[in-house]
Amino acid sequence: MDLLCPSNLRMPDQGFDDVLKRLDELVASGWREAKHAVADAMLSFRSNGLALRRLAAAAIASGKAPPLQGAQSFLLADRPDYAIRINMWFPLTGLARTNDRYRRYLSIDELHNHDFDFFSICLSGPGYTSLFYREEVFDPDRSAGERVPLEAPRVVSLTGDDVLFVEKEKDYHAQQWPTALTTTLNVIPRAVGERRVQYVLDAESLSIRDVIRA
Ligand SMILES: [Fe+2]
Repeated sequence: MDLLCPSNLRMPDQGFDDVLKRLDELVASGWREAKHAVADAMLSFRSNGLALRRLAAAAIASGKAPPLQGAQSFLLADRPDYAIRINMWFPLTGLARTNDRYRRYLSIDELHNHDFDFFSICLSGPGYTSLFYREEVFDPDRSAGERVPLEAPRVVSLTGDDVLFVEKEKDYHAQQWPTALTTTLNVIPRAVGERRVQYVLDAESLSIRDVIRA
């Protein structure tokens, strides 16, 4: 996990399709060597509510709700080399307090890794805080009940101009309830032909509760 500091050389305000084109080029030519440039491009989506306005405009134009992914994420763009989604993070309310499924949808206190890399920025609201753990050498052949030797955790808040990069398999995190409604944007490079293993851990014992193989 990296918190990327965007460069001081912000791109001028651009249209949504201009930012997409920039991202197309960056991801196709090797995003791992250009994470800060990806971060800069992502922050352009926040200018004047660009990404949220695009999500709403596409829904109005199509007459349908934006494509939902999971319980809290909407697909904003589906490109050959990556996808962009917008996530909604609701604060703890009376409903959420009593709805365990909703808590799990948001991975509140659910310690897990991902089988894909992703970047994340806060589009609106105060952001969220996560507890991050790291495992430098990932073992894809673990079974339920096994303890994962994670390094000491780090509390990370995604807010302001931060851009979070989460590395597939090696970074584990558990979310905390946001203090107010927050929207975030993810850029998710495609992991074509790679192994897909995800672990969900017991947050106390750090042992594997679920193994999800795609
Ligand atoms: Fe997650």
